[in-house]
Amino acid sequence: MKISDVRRDIPFLDEVIYLDAASTTPTPKPVVDAICDYYHHYNSNTGRGAYKTAVKATSEVEKTRSKLAEFINSRTEEIIFTKNTTEAINLVAHGLNFKKGDSLIVPNIEHHSNLVPWLNLKKKGVEIKIIKSDPQGVVDPASIEDAIDQNSKLISITHISNSIGSMQPVEEIGKIAQENDILYLIDAAQSLGHISININKLNADFVAFPGHKGLLGPVGTGFLYGQPEALNELDPLNLGGGTVSDVTEHDFKLTEGPARFEGGTLNISGLIGLGAAVDYIKRIGLDKIEKHGKKLTKMMFVGISEIENSVVYGNPEDIYDMVGFNINGVNCHDVAKILDEQNTICVRSGMHCAIPAMRQIGAYEFGGTVRASIHYYNLKEEIKTLIDTLEEISKFLGS
Ligand SMILES: Cc1ncc(COP(=O)(O)O)c(C=O)c1O
Repeated sequence: MKISDVRRDIPFLDEVIYLDAASTTPTPKPVVDAICDYYHHYNSNTGRGAYKTAVKATSEVEKTRSKLAEFINSRTEEIIFTKNTTEAINLVAHGLNFKKGDSLIVPNIEHHSNLVPWLNLKKKGVEIKIIKSDPQGVVDPASIEDAIDQNSKLISITHISNSIGSMQPVEEIGKIAQENDILYLIDAAQSLGHISININKLNADFVAFPGHKGLLGPVGTGFLYGQPEALNELDPLNLGGGTVSDVTEHDFKLTEGPARFEGGTLNISGLIGLGAAVDYIKRIGLDKIEKHGKKLTKMMFVGISEIENSVVYGNPEDIYDMVGFNINGVNCHDVAKILDEQNTICVRSGMHCAIPAMRQIGAYEFGGTVRASIHYYNLKEEIKTLIDTLEEISKFLGS
């Protein structure tokens, strides 16, 4: 699919210059159509009714599970639906039986969703070992290895940082986790739908994914990949309807498969939309998405670096589909507001739910960074408008 075809499917992109894909992405028409089709023609619950529309709803949601599995090269029963990446990570943090004295290893560049659930385990007496990234926001696998001791139970790391865009050596860390028999979680919130992901190469026990970011799926969708043995160690977050195979007045038996982690009514329309989103991304082609992303990221990085008073973060060779920056002398939120007011450019500003990461790269004092993040639908002309507008901001307000 050409960029113009995708833009035709997302009318919102004619109204704004949308450079906030790392937060959430706009939803293309075929995804919205799939959602509407459900509401108009088979609006029923899943996994319950025997009537035709309920069976269809169940089958469509299960098709999404299979599509997601195929997309990341896993098995269908390894996919657990969640409402977002955060819930997928919390499912693991709450579901594993951590005990006093266990230790976890987590880098300091994480999104709060991959930090706070682990810090919270301190209440149980779990030790959290925080690993510092290098100044460009990349974690050295050797520093992870050095932190391992006989109490290490889990390593958790982001695939691509949400504030810097830096890719982490997740495969190498996976090997270290495997060699030391430690559970391994990857937060793939910024990589899914941007680069190709092959579960078999990651050596991960758990991978947390959003549906609403790189996949162009609806908000309120996400999923957890769980390696079968690791899933067996996990207690469900929500118990209730759908999670059990038998119940007496005194006890219950959990059902087999993903359903035991998916208590209550699912986000049925969202999941049906997510299936359409996987089809859509495949129609565009991940190779094309990645190539276009690399080109525009480089253009942003170089263009913004050349602006007087600019500070740009990360290593241009190693960041994916976003650039974090500041204009000296201008508060990052003011930069974002002016970009919006001048040219309806939507970027995120502030700490990006990653306060320790902001400290690590020296952006905390600025109140964070401005982050411009892209997807396949973005145009060279939009990046040029961003750079030109930033030049004006720097000229009049920078120091
Ligand atoms: C790296 C990373 N992890 C976790 C999250 C939380 O994602 P969600 O909003 O899907 O829970 C984000 C959101 O931006 C993220 O970028």
